[in-house]
Amino acid sequence: MRYAGSPEGRCWYEADIQAWWDAYLAERRRSGEDETQLILRTGDETAIGESHYGPVSEGFEVGDWRKPEGVRCFMTDIKLLLQYWGKGIGTQGMRMIVEFIFANTRCKLLVVPPHRDNPPAFRVYEKAGFLLTGLEA
Ligand SMILES: CC(C)(COP(=O)(O)OP(=O)(O)OC[C@H]1O[C@@H](n2cnc3c(N)ncnc32)[C@H](O)[C@@H]1OP(=O)(O)O)[C@@H](O)C(=O)NCCC(=O)NCCS
Repeated sequence: MRYAGSPEGRCWYEADIQAWWDAYLAERRRSGEDETQLILRTGDETAIGESHYGPVSEGFEVGDWRKPEGVRCFMTDIKLLLQYWGKGIGTQGMRMIVEFIFANTRCKLLVVPPHRDNPPAFRVYEKAGFLLTGLEA
């Protein structure tokens, strides 16, 4: 979680999903409708994680990757509660997120920003169809 925006890298609990959702709703008016928070749920509606996506600005760069000019590009991620790690759920969830974004937005290029020291995130993104690019020196 230290690579996924958690304060001080601490673990993440059920209450945090609600807290991030509440913060998202409070910010939504300012951030605009393109910034979207998804709550990931199991078939019985249990909340097990979240994903955020939003547009990437013109000129945005990370490592040697630069957003292609004029291409509608979104960035996203995925976070699961610890007890759901290592069971293939992240891969399944990420595939659903990719499908959701392309079906519900005008996104043409989707990017994810895993930290280099986060191999499970790299692997999940790779299995969901992402190609590696823009490595930082
Ligand atoms: C990243 C995350 C969503 C992965 O979810 P998950 O359900 O555990 O992922 P899966 O079980 O579908 O797959 C994990 C893959 O990583 C691999 N993996 C796990 N630990 C690894 C390690 N230390 N080194 C290399 N590969 C590793 C697993 O073997 C598996 O790949 P495989 O199916 O080819 O064997 C989850 O760990 C998480 O929520 N992490 C905290 C938040 C985070 O870092 N999000 C990404 C922000 S960019």
